[in-house]
Amino acid sequence: MPTPPAPADLEGRLGAILADHATFEGPLLPILHAVQAEWGYVPPEALPIIAEGLNISRAEVHGVVSFYHDFREEPAGRHMLKICRAEACQARGGQGIEAAAKARLGVDWHGTSSKGGVTLEPVYCLGLCANGPAMMLDGRVVARVDEARLKSLLEEVDA
Ligand code: FES
Repeated sequence: MPTPPAPADLEGRLGAILADHATFEGPLLPILHAVQAEWGYVPPEALPIIAEGLNISRAEVHGVVSFYHDFREEPAGRHMLKICRAEACQARGGQGIEAAAKARLGVDWHGTSSKGGVTLEPVYCLGLCANGPAMMLDGRVVARVDEARLKSLLEEVDA
């Protein structure tokens, strides 16, 4: 599992990110995206530094981070499994795949398996609607997923 940034690295890099966005109108979201791009999540230690830099409260920063599901509040696992929850995949048995993945990994949406191997995220259409249920494992799109295929793929990455 990725390790959180060292405090000195965090402050230094965060200072640069804040400076890069100093002239933005409404800079909080772009700053949070830049932070997540840097570390893969928004480290809690970053919130007071961002708040101070923007002269807003830490609660405001936290409110935005927790409101948008795109922002992670903890490091993701080594692998990312995204399962399509959009309508066409749901009609083709997607809910069964979701349930099987949650049971196999022992997590709910946005959770990471206890071995730190796989983070489970929902996604809303991968462009394979006629070949669902669809999912994406580490950027590799998989169509016509059934429970046996899911089990086999998860054994490869989260044995
Ligand atoms: S609805 Fe699942 S890929 Fe489009």
